[in-house]
This record gives sequence, C-alpha cells and structure tokens, in this order.
Amino acid sequence: MFREVRDNTLYIDGCSTVTLAKKYGTPLYVYSESDIVRRFEELKKCFLEKYPSTRVAYAAKAFFPVAMAKLVDREGMCVDVVSGGELYTAIKAGFPAEKIEFNGNNKQLAEIEMAVEYGIGRIIIDSLQELHLIEDICREKGKKMNVLFRITPGVKSSSHDYIVTGKKDSKFGIPLDDEVILPQIKGAIDSEFVDFYGLHFHVGSQILNNDSHLQALDIMLNLVTKIKEELDYDVKELNVGGGFGVTYVDEERPSYSYYLDPMMEKIEKYCAEKAIERPNVVIEPGRSIVAEAGISLYTIGSIKDIKDIRKYVSVDGGMTDNIRPALYQAEYTGVIANKAEVEKTEVVTICGKCCESGDILIKDVKIPHPESGDLFAIFSTGAYGYSMASNYNKNLIPGVVMVSDGNDRLIVKPQTYEDLLRNEIL
Ligand code: LLP
Repeated sequence: MFREVRDNTLYIDGCSTVTLAKKYGTPLYVYSESDIVRRFEELKKCFLEKYPSTRVAYAAKAFFPVAMAKLVDREGMCVDVVSGGELYTAIKAGFPAEKIEFNGNNKQLAEIEMAVEYGIGRIIIDSLQELHLIEDICREKGKKMNVLFRITPGVKSSSHDYIVTGKKDSKFGIPLDDEVILPQIKGAIDSEFVDFYGLHFHVGSQILNNDSHLQALDIMLNLVTKIKEELDYDVKELNVGGGFGVTYVDEERPSYSYYLDPMMEKIEKYCAEKAIERPNVVIEPGRSIVAEAGISLYTIGSIKDIKDIRKYVSVDGGMTDNIRPALYQAEYTGVIANKAEVEKTEVVTICGKCCESGDILIKDVKIPHPESGDLFAIFSTGAYGYSMASNYNKNLIPGVVMVSDGNDRLIVKPQTYEDLLRNEIL
C-alpha cells in the first residue's frame, strides 16, 4: 500500500510526509511513482497484453511535467496532448514523436505546424476547418499526417456538467450528422496529404458507470458500418477516449476491465459479424493514472471557530493549487498527517488562503483537534490539481515531489517571487 501510517505519521510510498514537508516546505504536491507505475501495469495486463492492436495514450492534461512525460515513455505508453505547450513538453522530455497524438477543439495554425514538423503520430481532427488546415500545412512542408475524426456521439454521461463532453451540445468534436461527416471523411480518405485512420470519441471525465462508453461505442460502430458501406473503407483505428473514474472520498473505483472488457467484446463481436478486420483500439486515460497517486500537503495556519456554525481551518494553499472544489464542487478528504493515529473528534472545514469565499478545499471533514503548525494532507489530488494551478492573488504554485519506495526527488521546483515577475516589464 503506497499510503500508510507509521508512528502517528502519514507515509506515502515509503516517505514520511512530515519529513517531506520539512525538506521541501508546503504547500507541496507529492506523487507516488509506484502507484502511477501500478496503473500502467494494470493497463498492460488487462488491456494491452490481453487485446492485440491496442494502445494507451496517457492524457497529458491530467498532470504533465517533464518527469511525468519521461515516466509515460519509460512505461511504453503513447501520449495525448492538447496544446503546443503539452507537445513542447513531450518533445523536450525526449518523447518519441510518433507516439504523440494531438487532440483539441481549436488547434492553432502554429500548433499544427509544430505537430507536422515533429512528425507526431496522429492528429485528431475536431472541426470541419481543421482537415483543410492540416492539408495546407502538409502540402507546404511536403509531409503526410495520420488523422482521426473526433465525433460527438450525442451521449450524456453522468458527471459534472463541465466535464461532460460527449453530448450533442458540446464545443468538442464533430456532431454526428451523416450528410456532413461522410463527405468530410471521404475528403480525408482521398487526400494525398493525410492518411485517414479512423474515429475518436470521448464521453466525459470521472465516469463511474460504463453505460455511456458502451452507448457511444454503438453509435461509433454504426458509423464504421456506414463508412464501409458508403465509402468502401475499413476504419483502421477507434479511439474511445478516457474518463474512467477514481476514488476521491468513498466512491468505489471500477477496474479498467469493467469499462474495457465489454467495449472490446462489442468491437470484436461487431467485426466478426461484419467480417472485417478489427481496428486498433486506443484509450486516453488521464485522471485514472495519476489522481490517487497524488496528495497535497499543507500547513495549518489560522483556525476560526464560529460558535454553533463552523470551524474554519485555513491552510497555506487553496484554490490556486486545487481549483476543483471551487470549479466543480469536487469533494475530497484528508487527514492531519502528523496526527494520523489520533482520534478524530472534530468536524471542520478546510479552507484556502485566497480572497474568495469559495476557496474551500473540504467542507465538513472529521479530524483530530487541529492546531496551527499541523500538517494537513488532502488525498487524490494528483489529476487536474497541479495542471490547473494558477497564480491568483499572486500566490506561488507549489513544487512537486515524486516519491518511490522511500526515496524522494523534486521534479518541479516551487515557484519563487522572481518567477512571478519573470514576464513583467519592470
Ligand atoms: N481524451 C480527451 C479527448 C479528453 O478530453 C480528456 C479529458 C481525456 C482524454 C482524459 O480524461 P480522463 O481520463 O482524465 O477523465 N479538469 C477536469 C477534467 C477535464 C477533462 C477534459 N478532458 C477535472 O478536473 O475534473
């Protein structure tokens, strides 16, 4: 177990959180490398090794410092990027260009140029204009690009509205309309500047039920048939996105197989019935790789007990290092890391230090009697915490430490005040 208690102290991957806080200061993001590797191992076993012609493209947006890019590469995975910045990070980390896939609903000309120049593995086309942009750039540079089309399957998954992406009313993907989509696909099949590979969908994020993935897959397989019947073309690749849910508080995290086995079964059955070769199947997990591997460490400062109402326990970070509670009403839990075996006697609210009443990290968490100077650890902050951090109120973005089997190493330095002013004209 990468999280354990020894001598009243929370340990993560063999490292004492108290020692880490002393060594690196707080707030601090701490990631268990073993836990991240364990997730990739799980995927190897239940997906990559079980089903041939499959790939995992880790969704960089969840957490992507250079050290993570290197880890993803070392584990033999591909990566899904959504911006020039993520692409640049992957390239700087030495990530093989052909294992990079590029998503995004409004890719900029310069970003597509970068992708073509590096010779990345796939561009996932998200709008009707994009194919022409890619063709123009490839024509100019004398290159050819592998492309897929991201389709909005028109399926509503049960998650927070801001992180649901597969429904029809969405800025992502190309709506499923045969009259529009089939001529586009034909254009891509006939193009001398792109190789059309297939279709992509992504139904949303933090999805704990496999229904929406399966429904979307049915819709996509229907389109595969139409492409075969009307364009006489065998789709080579199906990318079914990410979105697999994790445990934040007490949700039961489904296994990868829970989503992937029925999807693979459906695809294989479909291909057998139609007597067509099964397309490659690609998944794009982000959150489920890193969420639970990461914790955030804070030092408790002011404590305000508003009689008969609420006890506010303030920490030295907040919505600037974890915007998710403020943005999505996301729920977390945590412990006083230096009182890990002390009886929990109080229900308190953990709040941040930003000038916003909404800067609440956890509402109503049961902990031992808190005192200023205690170390507070929030669990499952590894996905979309660091990657969505901001400098609001000119708070500094914390550093990131990777721990593994009792060893720790800083992978991102904490920001300094000089960093804050780096781009300002003084
Ligand atoms: N592929 C595509 C095309 C996506 O849009 C996303 C996430 C993923 C893969 C990865 O999904 P995951 O496996 O991480 O669920 N900031 C939000 C999450 C936004 C996700 C957007 N797209 C949050 O903190 O909950």
